[in-house]
Amino acid sequence: MSLALKPLLLFLVLCALNPFPSVECAIPFIRTLQNLRGIRRGQNADGVGILRSHLKNLGYQVNDKSSSDNNFDANDESALKQYQAFHGLHTSGVVDDQTIETMSLPRCGLPDITATPNPNPNGLSSSSPPQNYTYFPGNPKWSKFTLTYRVTRMPSSVSVSQNDFKQALRNAFNTWGQNNSFTFTETTGQSDIVAGFHRGLHFDFYPFDGRGGVLAHAFAPDDGRMHMDADENWSTTGSSPTIDVETVCLHELGHNLGLGHSNDPNAIMAPTYSGVRRNTRQDDREGLNNLYGF
Ligand SMILES: *[C@@H]1O[C@H](CO)[C@@H](O)[C@H](O)[C@H]1NC(C)=O
Ligand SMILES: *[C@@H]1O[C@H](CO)[C@@H](O)[C@H](O)[C@H]1NC(C)=O
Ligand SMILES: *[C@@H]1O[C@H](CO)[C@@H](O)[C@H](O)[C@H]1NC(C)=O
Ligand SMILES: [Zn+2]
Ligand SMILES: [Zn+2]
Repeated sequence: MSLALKPLLLFLVLCALNPFPSVECAIPFIRTLQNLRGIRRGQNADGVGILRSHLKNLGYQVNDKSSSDNNFDANDESALKQYQAFHGLHTSGVVDDQTIETMSLPRCGLPDITATPNPNPNGLSSSSPPQNYTYFPGNPKWSKFTLTYRVTRMPSSVSVSQNDFKQALRNAFNTWGQNNSFTFTETTGQSDIVAGFHRGLHFDFYPFDGRGGVLAHAFAPDDGRMHMDADENWSTTGSSPTIDVETVCLHELGHNLGLGHSNDPNAIMAPTYSGVRRNTRQDDREGLNNLYGF
């Protein structure tokens, strides 16, 4: 087998494992990144335009250039450095191994940077202690502390049962509700938070991408939607290569409560998924406490 064919075959095999043939697979982006290894300012390579779009979707400032423009310019370098700083990587401005590894991780579908950038990213720009958590633009939050939730849409192909999903949600609500005034109650009728699994295009502006890539997304208060990508291999253990459903619920509920992404890599509100994590960190709790005044 020729070397050039290998990545393509791997891609085909990975996608063939996907039991839903109509569904896209997030692997092509990872393959693109592999092709960009070592790319730096001033260089040209197939896929630079795709990388630029990716950075733009994550909220980083890039110039509006055609996605077929594959020249990695100073602006792309600066956006990549911002990405690296946010994710606690060496800010080389080069598509290096660490960057490829982090960008290949499954993640939340919300951008890293929303309209209000973190005022003090990792303390780099200020002498005050770093504040890593963020809020959505305008700091939206709930105006009550007694919230109801319900589970909708549980396609039978989802790899965890409805009971397992409900248990994961219960655990996640308990975690967020510690030492504050929030109470969360499950209901079957009208509810504040609505959690469910969806596949591909699903009637919001954020279609899911099949196995890998984006795992879930959720909306800021007081839109309580929480959407899980039905095509992931979810489990209640998170043993590789499955994705721990409670870890992702905990993260998405943080968004439902008003938290944006944190640049503390250990926070539950960090945008990437790197294994089972079923607790909030100090940064997460301070973010919630300062938003609601607990
Ligand atoms: C809640 O408060 C108790 C008692 O002060 C403390 O031991 C515990 O660590 C706190 N939990 C969280 C998640 O802050
Ligand atoms: C999910 O992962 C488990 C554990 O590796 C595996 O046995 C199972 O076949 C996978 N399910 C799907 C649908 O790929
Ligand atoms: C912010 O994250 C950095 C790691 O990137 C960590 O050293 C620092 O303690 C965090 N700050 C807070 C307030 O959690
Ligand atoms: Zn998120
Ligand atoms: Zn959605």
